[in-house]
Amino acid sequence: MSSKRLANRRLAGTLRVPGDKSITHRALIFATLASGTCRVSGMSPAEDCASSAECLRALGLTVERTDVDQCDITSSGPSCLKEPGEILYAGNSGTTMRLLSGILAGQPFRVVLDGDGSLRSRPMSRVLDPLTEMGADISYLDRRNCAPFAIRGAALVGKQFDLKVASAQVQTAILLAGLQAEGQTIVRLPSVVRDHTMRMFKMLGVPFSLSEDHSTIGVSRLERPVGPFQATVPADISSAAFFMVAAACLPGSDITLTDVGLNPGRDLVIEVLTEMGADITVIPTGEACGEPIGIVRVKGSELKGTTIGGDRLARGIDEVPALAVAGALCNGIFRIEGGTELRVKESDRITAIVSNLQSAGASVHESEDGFLIEGRQTLAGGATWKTFDDHRMAMSGMIASAVAQEPVDVDNKNCVGVSYPNFAADLARLLAD
Ligand code: S3P
Repeated sequence: MSSKRLANRRLAGTLRVPGDKSITHRALIFATLASGTCRVSGMSPAEDCASSAECLRALGLTVERTDVDQCDITSSGPSCLKEPGEILYAGNSGTTMRLLSGILAGQPFRVVLDGDGSLRSRPMSRVLDPLTEMGADISYLDRRNCAPFAIRGAALVGKQFDLKVASAQVQTAILLAGLQAEGQTIVRLPSVVRDHTMRMFKMLGVPFSLSEDHSTIGVSRLERPVGPFQATVPADISSAAFFMVAAACLPGSDITLTDVGLNPGRDLVIEVLTEMGADITVIPTGEACGEPIGIVRVKGSELKGTTIGGDRLARGIDEVPALAVAGALCNGIFRIEGGTELRVKESDRITAIVSNLQSAGASVHESEDGFLIEGRQTLAGGATWKTFDDHRMAMSGMIASAVAQEPVDVDNKNCVGVSYPNFAADLARLLAD
């Protein structure tokens, strides 16, 4: 950390990052299970969540913005959705496309789903194969396994699925179909993932069964819509992660992040930074939307290396672009293993991280399922950071720029709008405080 630019560089201050994207999607989409007007407060300003809202409007729900971060959704239950007169466009949002597919599998009409170039290249058969087994009629309109595709809903039959990929999206899509199916639908996961769906089912009064180890979830047909609900969304730990990493990397930093969602299926970033030697204090403050929330205080410190692999990676899969920056700034070896899922996110995040860190001067080695960084406690910077139009790659480039000896030039800062439109301003504020 020798450069003049870094001499007094630190992050300081208090921030509440915007509402959680995963939970906002669920609150919006699960309103289809309710009859009446539901209210979502503290919702994410992400373009992804706007895509969910837009698709729900096309399906006949009324979605009204009642405040900057609040909307009211009026629904009459799953059997009252109407055939949209247009293609359902999910933009960049895998969660919108996959969760809505679960709802649409049980609807008595045909609908086409599509997305942007990135979403068109992401695997969809992991969701569409199980829905087909349950009885939905699905056809790919261009390439197998990819959007655009058409779903003609049907009378579904419940099945048992043993998922190979630890995916909360796939699990949720199958459960949403299961709520419209004859008999029981059971989903078993290979490891712990975010359980927002179960927490929200509990809050809404949607019945489900859960095995003792939480790996297996069962649902049956929802005989009648649930009542209208109010959901208050916690701050998004995946957004907070970028500030946690930047503060941990810059000695003298001291930031406080409030209302952070601390779902045990999402908190790997705190666990990993702590084992790397970061000075992190977590103070639980209560619950929102059935989720634990708290204050996370992060101070800058010297970091050491670690390995993230195996079952725990699913608990921080979205945080790898942020954590990789800490990997470059640590003293030791930082390794990601067993992360082939990273190749099918909004970009191929393994290649994106490796190529960007290499051009910023880090020593990084790519493997099929991850990468290894030889952390040298410094990052030269001074290069162009290619985002591949991936919001998390853009935010990781912006924190890399904050902690590097020379700034890096992020090629598309605008794509942060997919999850966090105000990211640059919030980062600038904490850097200046
Ligand atoms: C999400 C689950 C994760 C995550 C995505 C959001 C969700 O995907 O990467 O950003 O809201 O359920 P997978 O379930 O496919 O791992």
